[in-house]
Amino acid sequence: MATFDAMPIPDAPHALPLVGHLVPLARDRLAFLAGLHAYGEMVWIRIGPWKALVITSADLSDRVLRDDRTFDKGGYLYDRIRETGGNGLVSCAHSDHRRQRRLVQPVFHRDRLPGYLALMSEQLDEVLGRWRDGGTVDVRADMQSITARTMLPRGLPPAVMERMLADMNVILAGVTWRSIVPKSLDRVPTPANRRYRRAQERLRGVVADAIGRYRAGDTVHDDLLSGLLASYGAEGDDAEIHDQVLTFLLAGTETTANVVSWALHLVAGHPDIERRLRDEEDLARKVVLETMRLYPPVPVLTRITTKDTELGGHDVPAGTAIAYSPYLVQRQGGHFKDPDRFDPDRWGDGKDVPRAPFLAFGGGARRCVGDTFGIAEAELMLSTITRRWSLRPVPGSRVRPALSLVLTPRTLRMRAVAA
Ligand code: HEM
Repeated sequence: MATFDAMPIPDAPHALPLVGHLVPLARDRLAFLAGLHAYGEMVWIRIGPWKALVITSADLSDRVLRDDRTFDKGGYLYDRIRETGGNGLVSCAHSDHRRQRRLVQPVFHRDRLPGYLALMSEQLDEVLGRWRDGGTVDVRADMQSITARTMLPRGLPPAVMERMLADMNVILAGVTWRSIVPKSLDRVPTPANRRYRRAQERLRGVVADAIGRYRAGDTVHDDLLSGLLASYGAEGDDAEIHDQVLTFLLAGTETTANVVSWALHLVAGHPDIERRLRDEEDLARKVVLETMRLYPPVPVLTRITTKDTELGGHDVPAGTAIAYSPYLVQRQGGHFKDPDRFDPDRWGDGKDVPRAPFLAFGGGARRCVGDTFGIAEAELMLSTITRRWSLRPVPGSRVRPALSLVLTPRTLRMRAVAA
């Protein structure tokens, strides 16, 4: 291949023998990621025996996202996502992507969204109806149960639904942990490994039952599973539909729930924004976008190079694991003034968005298929909640991100005060 390398791509410093950068990654992956920008547009990190090339600039992230044939789904995170999402739309290879996207896209057709939002609103009302003035709310769990309404099959007993949500959280945390430790540890019968496997088995069982039930029944629900079954038609391959349902659960429940959780946390620290949310119609959208800039629900994602290629003036061999990070790019001062500040007004009138990189939904052909739906849900949840309630931080509580595939607060307990 052509030689571009005048200077080699730097290694991130402070790698330890054997484990590499595992310790800072496990301790505070966001701070570790953000610090990598200082070493240039690309930097090698080492995790155990293998290396990944982290892209720190918006331009190169864009190049990677636009060439999904060369930079295909793969790498340390996707290897683990596939353990649950199988060959669904998020994780399938480029060679199968166009076909799958054509089948899944109609599920998110504009005409279907009002039905999904109505279903979600039922659950939103139910959850908000349980809040008590002065009571403490587990914001993260409540938001998750609201967004899950359109994702989970109908007719599940509440205990099964709760179990499923807990299982999903076990898997999302397990995916991230497993992506930074050697595969050889999978077989060690630790409680965490057993929990992960049991969670997977249970989720698979519920999803398989639900597909059977939906196929056998003649009721059409206004939910995503009905949408999928309609799109795949009577002859659709059940194994693939199964992967798509698990993919939706993993990709669409916690992501949107966490946007709203972080938004409520941010709004609690900005009473002026909270007041304005009750009067200004289009502010909720700007708050949602600004929250997704500061706390992109999926802060880091991986790819694998399918051939020798060039990136940023460097040779990159086939089989290289690449990581791109919405978190890293969206917090850069070169793109956003005062990048760590929560400033929903930087989104102009909601249409005139800054010409700055926004990677929270990825990009190129693999851009999120649920983007419009996710934003519409988050907007509706945020405006409904802030119209009825003020959420206040519980004194003494610290809100810190957990190590999970989705950028989620470890806990977010807040006090509800009727507005
Ligand atoms: C605010 C909420 C959401 C965020 C921030 C988000 C984020 C993302 C990101 C970053 C990607 C690209 C992954 C990559 O580049 O490797 C993606 C893809 C995807 N998302 Fe979302 N997502 C959200 C909501 C949803 C919802 C509600 C669904 C619906 C079930 C969904 C389903 C998917 C699917 C199926 C893909 C794969 C698309 C493809 O490869 O063609 N997402 N999402």
